[in-house]
Amino acid sequence: MITELKLGFLASGGGSNVQAIIDNIKSGKLNAEACAIISNNSSAGVLERAAKEGIPYYHISSKTNPDDASEAIINAFKSHGVNTVILAGYMKKLDPTIIEAFNGRVLNIHPALLPKYGGKGMFGINVHKAVLEAGEEQSGATIHRVTPEYDDGDILGQKFVPVLPDDIAETLAARVLEVEHQVYTETLQKIADGEIEL
Ligand code: GRF
Repeated sequence: MITELKLGFLASGGGSNVQAIIDNIKSGKLNAEACAIISNNSSAGVLERAAKEGIPYYHISSKTNPDDASEAIINAFKSHGVNTVILAGYMKKLDPTIIEAFNGRVLNIHPALLPKYGGKGMFGINVHKAVLEAGEEQSGATIHRVTPEYDDGDILGQKFVPVLPDDIAETLAARVLEVEHQVYTETLQKIADGEIEL
């Protein structure tokens, strides 16, 4: 069982989830190492965060690597000793070769309580709109294992957020994001402690 977490991040946006994990590693809350950060978006805020933190980072996409983006991602992560891949706001479907290369040790965060409100088109603000339209009384965040299908795979961690009567999608999204920042670290620490086997 691998409990020594050497993390490689894939993110397309601002990277507040990546930052929360890095901060928790630095404060000793999470026993892991942040080895490398990759974005498919050259102007993603997450790459600026990587530079600031002194963590190796790469822009790899179908533009930079039209024929072999997945291979380039695998090679970059392997060159930094990554053994667990962390998706955090990565807006690309993951090629199965990446999942295989890391023996299924690939996790994602979703801003709702899967298996509800997942799948194609369920990203960003759409998720929170759907939760409100359905009249749910609670939402939350889910950490799950990544499979070749969107938002599929075993659920490894979940944290709940009440839906408030005057919520709009943006206010709900902001409260869910707060628990996203907690549940990724909590789930990873359970893996590091051997409580969850990947
Ligand atoms: C988060 O809500 C995550 O759940 C979703 O994309 C958002 C990423 O936010 N898949 P950030 O880039 O970590 O700030």
